[in-house]
Amino acid sequence: MNVGLDRVEKGLENIAIKETRLSSIDGEQGKLYYVGYPIEELAEYSSYEEVCFLLLNGRLPTKDELRNFSATLVSERHLPPQVIDILRRLPRNAPLMSWLKTGVDLLSLFDADAEKTDDESRMRTATRLISRIATLTATSYRLARGLEPVEPRADLSHAGNFLYMATGNKPSSLEEKIMDVAFILHAEHELPASTTAALVVASTLSDLYSAVAAGIGALKGPLHGGANEKALEMLQAIKSPEIAEEYVANELAAKRRIMGFGHRVYRSFDPRARIFKRYLEQLSERRGDKTLLQVAEAVEKAMMKYMSGKNIFPNIDLYSGPVFHLLGLGKEIFTPFFASARTVGWIAHVLEYWKENRLIRPRAVYVGPEPRSYIPLDKR
Ligand code: CMC
Repeated sequence: MNVGLDRVEKGLENIAIKETRLSSIDGEQGKLYYVGYPIEELAEYSSYEEVCFLLLNGRLPTKDELRNFSATLVSERHLPPQVIDILRRLPRNAPLMSWLKTGVDLLSLFDADAEKTDDESRMRTATRLISRIATLTATSYRLARGLEPVEPRADLSHAGNFLYMATGNKPSSLEEKIMDVAFILHAEHELPASTTAALVVASTLSDLYSAVAAGIGALKGPLHGGANEKALEMLQAIKSPEIAEEYVANELAAKRRIMGFGHRVYRSFDPRARIFKRYLEQLSERRGDKTLLQVAEAVEKAMMKYMSGKNIFPNIDLYSGPVFHLLGLGKEIFTPFFASARTVGWIAHVLEYWKENRLIRPRAVYVGPEPRSYIPLDKR
């Protein structure tokens, strides 16, 4: 009955809905670029603050611009006390991603720029949200654990301060660097489900907070952001590299998915997984405990044996979970951390899309009954 509509593009696979200058992925070669810069170089030489500037402005900052932008991020770190008061009353056993979604909505109520549509106001909201969502994540994490929130510190980088607020301990330089790399690697990734959800909301000319809340909702699922937590649970359950192959074989035979593997776009090793693996090696060495690294490598080897013919390779989540664990973070904060790092990517895409906004409104192919008369209740 939908004239001319007979084909369904399930999962919108290989459908482009916008042009972007933000990031590009070569799925065959396993390459990722932000505004043309290889992810490996950004992870090695840049900082999350600089990457945020790059994504929001389309170019790298000068020294002064970076100093000013970083100072603005620092100045926005505190949450409104009313938000903390409400967070204190949320149920501790609720998923932390639901806390985060609620928290983002609450933050919108205390942002005088939230509903303004001029470029300057939008940029102020963007910076405020990128900064505050890190505090919101760490604060929610601690409150849900029955701990007091830790006030942000102005003398630490965005990543170092996040780790400090979450754990209560000032990070070493290696820990701060690894956290910074984690923020950079999660900052942007073209149009996964969460960014698409944010764009759908933004395309109605709704506000940035609503778009970010939609992104959080989509990221929560285990096929997307939720996989990092599940991947660590799997590695911890396997316990020893010797039984990894048997575990993988059994899971695949039972037609269950191995978390931390496969990707809609990458048909090769996810470049972010390679970078995380290198830092996991360093951190495991430093901690004197290589168990998780060895189990992850053994799972990777088994998956290569059984699945490489299907182009299923490790994705970012296989190695990020063990890294976060060794940094002292509990599993429940992994996906909220991902959301807080990705907020810049969601916002940058929304700002880019708004330049030539078009309402996103797809169609469905109707396969139900032909038109028919209503049957009154007493005749059924
Ligand atoms: N373990 C076992 N088999 C898999 C896996 C996996 N992790 N991933 C894909 N396959 C198989 C799948 O069963 C299917 O086999 P068949 O053709 O026999 O039915 C085939 O590979 C193609 O899978 P698909 O589901 O059509 O591929 P997709 O593009 O829809 O899936 C994915 C992408 C990420 C949802 C999927 O690979 C998956 O479920 N992975 C596990 C969850 C995960 O690690 N997610 C994190 C993604 S990266 C971080 C992020 O962006 O959030």
